[in-house]
Amino acid sequence: MNHGIEQRQSQHGQWSSRWAFIMAATGAAVGLGNIWKFPYITGQHGGGAFVLIYLVCIFIIGIPVMMAEIMIGRSGRQNPLDSMKSVAVENGRSSHWRWVGALGILASFLILSYYSVIAGWSLAYVFKVAVPSFIERSPQAIDASFDNFVANPWKLLFWHSVMIIATAVIIAKGVEKGIEKTVYVMFPAMLTLLGVLVVYAMESGHFAQSVSYLFHPDFSKLKTHGIVAAMGQAFFSLSLATGSIMMYGAYLPRSASVTKAAVVIALSDTFVALLAGLAIFPVVFANGLEPSSGPGLIFETLPIAFGHMPFGNVFATLFFVMLVFAAFTSAISLLEPSVAWLIETFKIPRRKAAIISSFGIWFVGLVTVVSFNWAANIKLFKLTMFEVLDFLTANIMLPLGGFFIAIFAVWFLNRDVARRELQLPDGKLFSTWRFVVRYISPVAILVVFISVIV
Ligand code: PFF
Repeated sequence: MNHGIEQRQSQHGQWSSRWAFIMAATGAAVGLGNIWKFPYITGQHGGGAFVLIYLVCIFIIGIPVMMAEIMIGRSGRQNPLDSMKSVAVENGRSSHWRWVGALGILASFLILSYYSVIAGWSLAYVFKVAVPSFIERSPQAIDASFDNFVANPWKLLFWHSVMIIATAVIIAKGVEKGIEKTVYVMFPAMLTLLGVLVVYAMESGHFAQSVSYLFHPDFSKLKTHGIVAAMGQAFFSLSLATGSIMMYGAYLPRSASVTKAAVVIALSDTFVALLAGLAIFPVVFANGLEPSSGPGLIFETLPIAFGHMPFGNVFATLFFVMLVFAAFTSAISLLEPSVAWLIETFKIPRRKAAIISSFGIWFVGLVTVVSFNWAANIKLFKLTMFEVLDFLTANIMLPLGGFFIAIFAVWFLNRDVARRELQLPDGKLFSTWRFVVRYISPVAILVVFISVIV
């Protein structure tokens, strides 16, 4: 019965090696979520206790669900919607499971619409900080410059458009020639640059305070919505339930170990988030800035930090280049699921699919562009439209998708198929995975959801 699964090939080609997959998937995971979002939401939710919950979520939900996703993608070898459907049908289950894949594609579409706007800020900052006089300004002037920047919808629109076009161009080139080649250059460059920054931060004198801020949990500072945000951040940061990881899994050669890949990707992602925190908080504390200042945090703090460094503008430029690279390798992973779905459903060429999907995403992105200026006062439950999109995707759609993926992988997928796909012997490791995905991950997701409602 499962012969079909063994034989199937993705119609978009394959990674050239398992390293290509690991690098592409780690590139998808490491992005603005680690360097831009993790520090500011950690700041908004009070530090250590939030970080602890985040780490727990990575281990009990993130890694097991990631294994399930790669496994389903590699079995299905199509876009997330059709992979879910064919794996379900091959295991004698309802084709309605495809809706879980559809939810993922929709999430990746919505996330990229705002992700590209923020990636655009990063690109704009490459040019801003390259001018030496910019980082020499007073902290207040640097803050004000950020506020003025986001108040101008035309600027945001310009940079958002540049990011979307660049992403579409790479995706139009395909898996090996587009995604793989880009990631091979950008990912190592990004890691090197981040390392340089952490070394600088360690010398700035406020490092110990940052370590304590990040690693000493004070639960009195953590509210229920902080717990939801920590779980949402774990999903967002690992790129789970968006179809991205499932999609990349579809291009994975059969020889690669899903378990090892998932562990390497998740640990690298977590490591980068913590490194980013360690690089950014010393600067925040050293300059008396507010850790809870929100999405502008790194755009306000880092130029100030670099202002105190020899060759500061060179390092600042490098930093924002790194951020753009990190964002870009994630953005391409967000575009691929909807593009693959268009190609496979409507039998259209990749180029055309890339144009259609990226245009739609660009258009929806206008909502985020204006939510920082013209429409800043339009609010739903006190949240701006950008915040609503972020909340809806990261804190609701992703955990919901993750819940169903977990349920599917152990309650509906044949046990032996799962074991063979994960390439695990029938031993402790496999039983532990099943136990966690069966009882712990879904229950943890439900408990967090219910805790918000009551
Ligand atoms: N994981 C990426 C980050 O942390 O920036 C964001 C992301 C990429 C989310 C791809 C979801 C996704 F499918």
